[in-house]
Amino acid sequence: DLVDVAHATVLVRVDFNVPLQEGSIADDTRIRAALPTIESILERGGRVVLMSHLGRPGGKGHEPEFSLEPAATRLAELLGRPVAFPSNDCTDDDARRAVAGMADGDVVLLENLRFHPGEKKGDASFAGILVAGVDAYCNDAFGTAHRSDASMVATPTAMADRPCVAGRLLERELRYLGETIAAPERPFVAILGGAKVSDKLKTIRRLAGVVDTLVVGGAMAFTLLKAKGCAVGRSLVESDMVEEAGRMIEEVAASSTTLLLPSDFVCGAEPKAGTTTSISGTEIPDDMMGLDIGPESAERFAETVRAARTVVWNGPMGLFEVAPFDQGTRTVAEALAAATEAGGTTIVGGGDTASAVQGMGFGERVSHVSTGGGASLTMLEGGPMPAVEALDAT
Ligand code: 3PG
Repeated sequence: DLVDVAHATVLVRVDFNVPLQEGSIADDTRIRAALPTIESILERGGRVVLMSHLGRPGGKGHEPEFSLEPAATRLAELLGRPVAFPSNDCTDDDARRAVAGMADGDVVLLENLRFHPGEKKGDASFAGILVAGVDAYCNDAFGTAHRSDASMVATPTAMADRPCVAGRLLERELRYLGETIAAPERPFVAILGGAKVSDKLKTIRRLAGVVDTLVVGGAMAFTLLKAKGCAVGRSLVESDMVEEAGRMIEEVAASSTTLLLPSDFVCGAEPKAGTTTSISGTEIPDDMMGLDIGPESAERFAETVRAARTVVWNGPMGLFEVAPFDQGTRTVAEALAAATEAGGTTIVGGGDTASAVQGMGFGERVSHVSTGGGASLTMLEGGPMPAVEALDAT
């Protein structure tokens, strides 16, 4: 609301990088998450030009499987008003004419920015085309805020003479993943999971000495357990990370942070439905693989989470897409809901974890589900957020 947008054309960078299945949108969370900003501009008499990327096309022009057209259709349904999708190129004459000819209350969605090589290169001349004829810039693409793409950095830089602001989603995400974590109410608990330790190394190092308890589940726990000399059977292990994992365990032990690792597992002969299953202790039989944390571990983790005042969670506890390996993730999600009800702040980040929590019906029962995958992890790592820095600089 910082900018008077009546009769103004506002260029809004959103993250409509949504999962598509056979041309239709499998999960529209990111489109819904952009509605508060879009509706606010429209209600105040503005005109909205939306731009986004989708997937990772080659930057060689239009590729139909990466078109944002399904997002335009979905957005029109959600807004209850037409969304113009002028052309298959965000810089061509049709796109520019559509932007120039807008009336108050109009919405235009430009085609995938990454069809142009200039987007990934952060090209200033590409940004110059995007900003022609617009009055203000708004960045609401939290999911992309760890990237230096042209629409994230060169665009606000090119608009230094016009208002550049953060949208409502970006503000909310930065409040939770930035401010809450920087000054947490304690106990402060972080839960990390997912397949790979290598993805979360920087996060573990950053959180050691910051959180009171670091809970590790998911397949990444096996690399840590292997480093501790446990038998992990056929579980997923990053062999080249075992030594590093051992050092990390020592670093955490030398800090004020308590590390909680699983002590039992739901094992399966294969990572698929209908496979033979059993419950093991820390020692997993040679012919089995751990596919979820066991009931004793889940309860221990849940107890820690329920007593926390601040919780961040990134990475599922097991193969949650396949029953019965979803129970650990469900128990942790339930514990987050209980901590929230007791007045705590609970934050879920990462694409898989967010979709698990939402799919299990806990989306409304935690404080915040982030729309960012890589971006939320970068925030946890304390890594650079070029798009936020570019906005701050304007
Ligand atoms: C994401 O889904 O993490 C963002 O949209 C960024 O996409 P990228 O990893 O292709 O830059």
